[in-house]
Amino acid sequence: MATLPTRRPRRLRQSPAFREMVAETTVRPADLILPMFIADGLSEPREITSMPGVYQHTFDSLARAAEEALEAGVRCVDLFGVPQPSDKDATGSQAAKEDGILNRAVASLRERFGDDLIIMADTCLDEFTDHGHCGVLDSEGRVDNDATLDLYDEMALAQARAGAHLVSPSGMMDGQVARIREALDGEGFTDVGIMAYSAKYASAFFGPFREAVGSSLQGDRRTYQQDPRNFHESLLEMDLDEAEGADILMVKPGLPYLDVLHAASERTNLPVAVYQVSGEYAMIQAAAQNGWIDGEAVMLESLTAFKRAGASQILTYFATDAARLL
Ligand code: PBG
Repeated sequence: MATLPTRRPRRLRQSPAFREMVAETTVRPADLILPMFIADGLSEPREITSMPGVYQHTFDSLARAAEEALEAGVRCVDLFGVPQPSDKDATGSQAAKEDGILNRAVASLRERFGDDLIIMADTCLDEFTDHGHCGVLDSEGRVDNDATLDLYDEMALAQARAGAHLVSPSGMMDGQVARIREALDGEGFTDVGIMAYSAKYASAFFGPFREAVGSSLQGDRRTYQQDPRNFHESLLEMDLDEAEGADILMVKPGLPYLDVLHAASERTNLPVAVYQVSGEYAMIQAAAQNGWIDGEAVMLESLTAFKRAGASQILTYFATDAARLL
């Protein structure tokens, strides 16, 4: 008969008290960041079909939802604008206008919440361009990196003037963090921080987001977002964004890229955020609605996995719901 091992890991799992005592990971409400959509010209909030429980907001419903998030312990929201289709153009010019939908939403939340809630704005042109790309196109229809940077500067400055505490360049143009930092500092916005989408993959998990923002994109973003087959490229992107002056780095999507998240968090002394994207949210909600999984348990398990892998912050459409349970 084989001798039983004396090393018995099950000892420390025998009761809730033991399990609580040895738990290595905690998710706090303040770790969570809620992405929100403000839409121009809506009279009622509109639920996004592929993201049950997530809305295109009116100004009123945006403020209410932000209030609920704050009450639950969430400290930061990330705003995306959905302009009227007729306001889109080739250069996404509404993005930098003071009366553009996103900048008005930033201003309204900042006025209401002051410094109690951190207001972050998405700094990318795709919601505002008629072709749906994250940048402007050259004469051959390619996304023109350096011409796009000029517009990101203008957009980031408009967001800072509107009262954003954080801007978040998500377009994956080379040099975007350095240029935005320089533009912000040049106008005295030295306290406005940058959460950099550093490792952002050309992912099919973004599918439902395209409905959420009424995207006009034909084709794909593979000339600027990363190839899912690559890992080291993410480390390069992280190093560049850190050197360019980012305050927080980010990996996106989340669960399929935990390897990247973990490596990034070991490599840098900056906080590394992760974005649990629309498709990840939609899959959990769809399976839960079918009774195929326990939605609440899977939600909390996925958030725990991000923290375990090294995330400092988690952008998630579950933020308010999860914060209430934590
Ligand atoms: C681009 C942007 C996207 C997302 C956040 N910022 C879409 C894309 O790159 O195609 C996706 C977020 C999600 O899927 O939840 N501004």
